[in-house]
Amino acid sequence: RPYRYLGHTTSTQDVLRQWAEDGAPEGAVVLAERQSAGRGRMGRPWISTPGSSLTFSLLLRPRSPIALLPLAVGVALREAVGLGGLKWPNDLLAPDGRKLAGILVEARVGTSSPGLVILGIGLNVRPPVPPGAAALSEFGPVNRAELLARLLEELENQYENLSKPERILEDWKKYSVTLGQEVTVKTPRGELRGRALDLAEDGALVVESQGATERIAAGDVSLIG
Ligand code: BTN
Repeated sequence: RPYRYLGHTTSTQDVLRQWAEDGAPEGAVVLAERQSAGRGRMGRPWISTPGSSLTFSLLLRPRSPIALLPLAVGVALREAVGLGGLKWPNDLLAPDGRKLAGILVEARVGTSSPGLVILGIGLNVRPPVPPGAAALSEFGPVNRAELLARLLEELENQYENLSKPERILEDWKKYSVTLGQEVTVKTPRGELRGRALDLAEDGALVVESQGATERIAAGDVSLIG
């Protein structure tokens, strides 16, 4: 597999995007020990401690629809790590609810050429971790290289599953810690509180709030209670 391993960079997302523009093939990986401008979902920064995380980006050039890709990647992460639960759309939480890993899906939009997706994963492997986060090593011994290999393999499996959407939804639900819970959801259009009921076929979160059923396509969920 073509990859670049960097000691220090701004964001693996940006390095891989540049490489993609220069012709990197699907499956190319950029891995870094330290990022000075790591980013998360919804415009947040992503802080990972040098040497104690798995911080990488993976290039995809999908030919099928990618609505379920964020959920599929969450499933891959959960399968590779072997513990924890998924908070919609794809945060991996430790059994006690602290965040173990986050996923960022950045797609190139607005062109007629084949799609390009830069998938970013940040997984806390060993302490120290940012306040409120968890590290995988708290739950058992971890070998970073083996974990990365397993994760790339699971990502490949789930990527192939994009042609079987029911399968992805079913697997995601199996690992969900979101469905059935009281939640608050921050969306680009505002905040709402209610009960997370289900996933829609396109991966949206179905929330019942004040007697109405809302479909959330993008947002940030907090579990209450
Ligand atoms: C989130 O939970 O908000 C998503 C976090 C994604 C972080 C990863 S670390 C590797 C890649 N490079 C970045 O700048 N972000 C992603």
